[in-house]
Amino acid sequence: MATLKIDINTSPVGTPDLVTFFIKGSALPAGVPSGEFDGALCSTVLLRDKTQRTLVVGLGDKEKLEPDSFRRAAGAAIKHLLKIGSSDIALELFSHADYVGAAVEGAILASYKFEGFGKDPSKKTRAILTHLQVLIEEHEVTNARLQANQAEIISTVTNTIREIGNLPGNMLTPAILAEKAQELIQDRALTIKVWNERHLERDGFGGILAVGQGSVHPPRLIVLEYKGGGKKDAPVALVGKAVTFDTGGISIKPGAQMDEMKFDKMGGLAVLGIMLAAADLKLPLNLVALIPSAENMPGPDAYRPGDIITTRDGKTVEVLNTDAEGRIILADAIAHARLTYKPSAILEYSTLTGAVIMALGHRRAGLFTSELKLRDALVAAGKTVGELVWPMPIDEEYRENVLSEIATAKNTSFREGSACSSASFVKLWAEDVPFVHIDIAGTAWTTKPPAYLEGGATGFGVRLMVQALKAGLTV
Ligand code: BES
Ligand code: MN
Ligand code: ZN
Repeated sequence: MATLKIDINTSPVGTPDLVTFFIKGSALPAGVPSGEFDGALCSTVLLRDKTQRTLVVGLGDKEKLEPDSFRRAAGAAIKHLLKIGSSDIALELFSHADYVGAAVEGAILASYKFEGFGKDPSKKTRAILTHLQVLIEEHEVTNARLQANQAEIISTVTNTIREIGNLPGNMLTPAILAEKAQELIQDRALTIKVWNERHLERDGFGGILAVGQGSVHPPRLIVLEYKGGGKKDAPVALVGKAVTFDTGGISIKPGAQMDEMKFDKMGGLAVLGIMLAAADLKLPLNLVALIPSAENMPGPDAYRPGDIITTRDGKTVEVLNTDAEGRIILADAIAHARLTYKPSAILEYSTLTGAVIMALGHRRAGLFTSELKLRDALVAAGKTVGELVWPMPIDEEYRENVLSEIATAKNTSFREGSACSSASFVKLWAEDVPFVHIDIAGTAWTTKPPAYLEGGATGFGVRLMVQALKAGLTV
C-alpha cells in the first residue's frame, strides 16, 4: 500500500483539491448552482475555477449530525476525487473540530480498494491518495492532530485487515494467515506464538484439529500478546474465528454464494487488527488474542456427523453437523484463554451463524453477553464508530438446547433461536469468566457498502473494540 502523508494546518500546503462539508439548509457556497444541490448526506457538487477544484459534500440535516455523517461524507468525497485523479486532498473542517477523527477515518477507509489479480495494471480506475490535509482553526490544531493520528492508525490497520480478508481461500490458508500475522507484528510491541498440527495434538486442541482434518491445509492456533498495562494486571482475552474457507465439510453447503465463505475468517482478522491498533496506539492495558484457524473441507479424513471430539479443557462435543464448525474451534481457543491467561474477560468475534443475519440483517452485529457493563460499553462504542451492535439473549433457556446426552454439548439444535443457542454453546467454554460473543456474520463483509467502504471485507469490529478499549472497558 502506498504511503499517505497527513497534515493538519490552518490553510492548505500546495494546491490540493478541497472538500467543503455542507449542512443541509445553510447558505449555499458561492458558485453552487441553486437547485442542483440540496446537501443530502453524501451528495456532491464539484466546483472548478482556473486553479482550484472544490468538492462540496452534503452532511444531511443538522439535527441528525453525528460522527458517521462525517465518516460517510468524507468517504463519498474521497471516492469522487480519487476517481477524477486527485491524490492531494484537503478537508475543510473549520467549526467541525469534534469530527476530525471521523472524517479522517472515512477518508482513509474510502481510499482503500481491493485491486485483485487482473492482468492489466493500466486499468486502474482511480488515483491513490498520497496527501491528506485537514484544515482547521489555529486553536484546534493540537486537538485535531491527536484525533487524526488515532484515526490514521485505526483506519490503516483496518485496511490491512480488509486486504487480507478479501484474499480467497487458495491464497489464504491457516498457515499463510499465521505468516501474515508474523510479518505484521514485526516492529510492533507484540509477541506471537503459533501452534502447528503437532503442537495442537500435544496440547489437546481436539476441536481445531477435528475441523481442520479434512483439508490438506492444516490448521493453526495463533496467539498474540500485548503488554501495555501493569505486570500483574489480568489481560483481556480476544478470541476470533478464522475459518479460511467454510465449505460446510461433510455437511456440505449449497453452491450458491459459497464463494463468500472466504470471509469466514473475519472474526480472527478483526482480533488481529485490534492487536495491531492497540500496539500502535500504545493502549495502557494487557491483551491476549487467540485466533484458531482451519479450513473446513470434506475429504477422506474429514470429521463427520456423529463424531465425538475432546476439546482443550476436556469438555466433549457431539458433532451433529460439520457446518457448525466455528463453535468447535472457538471452544478450544476459549478454554485455552481461560486456563492459561486467567483473563478478566473473554471477548469473542465470529461469523458464527446465518441465523443472526435473519434476526438483524447487515447493519448490526449480534451482541451476546450477560455482563451489563460490557454490553453498555460496547453498544455505546458502536454508536461512536458507526459499527452497531444489538443486544441478544444468551441465558439458560438456550444453553439447554445444546446439551447432549453423550457429550458436554452438541454442536447444533433447533433452527428456532439458533443464533442464541450457538452463542450459549460457545459460552460453555468460558465457564465463569465474563464473556461476550459478537456474531459478525451479517457485518463482516458487504455488498451494499456505506460511502466510506467498498464491497467485500469491512473489517467490522476493529473500530468498535478499539473504541471500547480506549474508553476503558470494565467488567
Ligand atoms: N460460517 C457459517 C455462518 C455464516 C453463514 C456466516 C452465512 C455468514 C453467512 C457457519 O459456520 C455455519 O455454517 N453455520 C451454520 C450452522 C448450522 C449448520 C447449524 C448456519 O448458520 O447455517
Ligand atoms: Mn459452517
Ligand atoms: Zn463457518
